[in-house]
Amino acid sequence: MSSEQNIIYQVQPGGKLTGTLRVPGDKSISHRSIMLGSLAEGVTEVSGFLEGDDALATLATFEALGVKIERPAAEKLRIHGVGMQGLTAPEKDLDVGNSGTSIRLLSGLLAGQMFNSTLTGDSSLSGRPMQRVTDPLALMGAMIASAEGKPPLHIMGGMPLAGIHYDLPMASAQVKSCVLLAGMYAAGKTSVTEPAPTRDHTERMLTGMGYEVEVNGDTVSLEGGGKLTATAINVPADISSATFFMVGAAIAEGSDITLQHVGINPTRIGIINILTAMGADITLSNEQETGGEPVADIRVRYAPLKGIQIPADQVPLAIDEFPAIFIAAACADGQTVLTGAEELRVKESDRIQAMADGLQILGIDAQSTTDGIIINGGVIGSGEVNSLGDHRIAMAFAMAGLQAGGTIFINDCANVATSFPNFIALANNAGLEIESIYA
Ligand code: S3P
Repeated sequence: MSSEQNIIYQVQPGGKLTGTLRVPGDKSISHRSIMLGSLAEGVTEVSGFLEGDDALATLATFEALGVKIERPAAEKLRIHGVGMQGLTAPEKDLDVGNSGTSIRLLSGLLAGQMFNSTLTGDSSLSGRPMQRVTDPLALMGAMIASAEGKPPLHIMGGMPLAGIHYDLPMASAQVKSCVLLAGMYAAGKTSVTEPAPTRDHTERMLTGMGYEVEVNGDTVSLEGGGKLTATAINVPADISSATFFMVGAAIAEGSDITLQHVGINPTRIGIINILTAMGADITLSNEQETGGEPVADIRVRYAPLKGIQIPADQVPLAIDEFPAIFIAAACADGQTVLTGAEELRVKESDRIQAMADGLQILGIDAQSTTDGIIINGGVIGSGEVNSLGDHRIAMAFAMAGLQAGGTIFINDCANVATSFPNFIALANNAGLEIESIYA
């Protein structure tokens, strides 16, 4: 696994970001294209697919479940759907590596199958909470054994599922999606109410493939026993990957960068709203819709940033973007305060602590709180920080180099390949002086 190889990033100080680039495909949509394409009737053609370790783990899992998936060209898939009842028993455990989306969505899907299966992952994933999916699945009638609420998950096949209504205890698209996917195999209606809007890619793709989904305010529901019809899926560029370049351009004087064909689904645009509130100069153009998802080109030009109190309603809409937002806050004038973001403590790493520790090493006054962080903008120095094997921590600190006083070394960066395999090449092209050192 890539995470076993220590890759250190060495980032030289200074520079600015310019030019036009397209970051890789959206991770959430890439996962869902394989899952739903596999269960559809007919052949689903995917373009813009993210060839990162996480989505490739989902791909390998569906191959192990008997689905033929061709890769005719770069970023393209041809998925030969087997229909709702066509998956077959895997011969061994299904190892999804670092991917929380894979294990949580798959637990719902596999709970509805006639065969047993086991989901495992790497050391980071093995420490992450799974009770948030096993609890509602148990209410539906599933039998899943875990290691005290953590992976591996042993899922018993052949358990009849019944639809439930579930009030999500936390704003989580993974849990919402898990319950909905199990709901397709359940008798009757399954509905989920969320405490705040979370990404709705599952609902959009289900609808696009002909599975009726009802959305009523904060509640989404579907009836079990439906079917999916293959379709073409054009995956937009991932706004979560674009974020690093948006922040880099926002903090480095003279920057002017355009990110093409980025997904701007309203449940994902917290980064645009938060950076704009901090004073960033962001414009959208070429707005269009592709495969049920809105996309646009995003241009960011340098403008001085100021610290803000991050609005509570933006937290779920920017949940993966906070490591980068904290770098913007470190470069802003004044104080930035984040609250209500305790979910950040159970991501690929404890992102609040990882960022507070790294920012302090770089000379920034950053204090973690139970559910957020307080950052006083200042002068970024130099030093050696640890990404803790978390792709988004690694890429966030890479962008800090644009405003640093000296070289920044970032440890444990192999997992950048989970979401953004060509990050180093694109970052260098745009103007960041960064290289990988293999230790
Ligand atoms: C995701 C949902 C979010 C997000 C993750 C991808 C998804 O997780 O952080 O990167 O694809 O549904 P939570 O559901 O845990 O908030």
